[in-house]
Amino acid sequence: MVVVSGSNSHVLAQQLADALGWEHHGLETRRFPDTEGYIRIPTEVIEAVRSEPVVLVSNTFPDSGIVETLLMLEALNDVRHGQLQNLREIGPQSLPDVGKGILLAIPYFGYSRQDKRFKPGEAISARAIGQLLSSRCDGLIVLDIHAPQVLEGLSVPIAFTSAMPELANHLQTTVEPDFILSPDKGAIDRASEVAQTIGCEFSYLEKTRIDAHTIVHKAKNLDVAGKRVAIVDDMIATGGTICRAAEALRNQGATQVHAACSHGLFTGGAIARLLRYVDGVHATGSLANARDVISGGPALARGVHELLEGLGLDSQ
Ligand code: R5P
Repeated sequence: MVVVSGSNSHVLAQQLADALGWEHHGLETRRFPDTEGYIRIPTEVIEAVRSEPVVLVSNTFPDSGIVETLLMLEALNDVRHGQLQNLREIGPQSLPDVGKGILLAIPYFGYSRQDKRFKPGEAISARAIGQLLSSRCDGLIVLDIHAPQVLEGLSVPIAFTSAMPELANHLQTTVEPDFILSPDKGAIDRASEVAQTIGCEFSYLEKTRIDAHTIVHKAKNLDVAGKRVAIVDDMIATGGTICRAAEALRNQGATQVHAACSHGLFTGGAIARLLRYVDGVHATGSLANARDVISGGPALARGVHELLEGLGLDSQ
């Protein structure tokens, strides 16, 4: 089986291929002068993506990632259906259809934020993107999506996977935390899993978001005096959530505070802001970021195995 990737997930696709012991091929991606994207499956990769199931690793972030993902799925479908007709008449023009076997692994599912309709007339963006992609592949692997339930009911099976085991292992090795904090109720499951794996104390805060840049936490007594604390979240964007939680921890006597997440978006100077409040910032490479210190490959590999098993396909 083979792993392929486009322009936004090359490193992670290689990590996945290493974890699976499969080959990894980069697809050709470039941009026309007007910025529109172009993608092509190189001639030497065509046989590889036809002979066995293929896992495409691609982010739907930023927006250009959605288009690139769709174009790569289109090309993979054509090649696997044997539709190779081309104006230059290069190679065979058609080949037998090799059937289903395109899996899409999405390390960071862009547009996952809008997972509910808060006001009438709003698009449920996560569902829209999920429907678009699932119409062009045979299964999805999604890493640490904020609210997996938004993708329920899609036409293909989905394996939800998580990098929390690797994140726990990384924190244990580098930080040795005494205490794990979830900065809001939404991260309780992930953060408590990390605390359990490490075998340390755990608590959570209750957060209210006033706007994209302003959040407040309900005051809570945390038993963190003299302790090393790691705040664990699915994603860090502006850093506001972490900075406010870190402030509360410092005020209650924590000696060290670290921030760890799957998805390091780090928008608008977030890292500089974070480093005023925390001693370290740790993220996976689900999307390219300056704090990529945790491999997302093993988590994606678990998702691939789960999906292949569910589909009755041999993953060896
Ligand atoms: C939301 O509930 C998420 O889990 C994160 O807490 C949030 O997206 C972080 O955003 P920011 O870094 O902008 O506070």
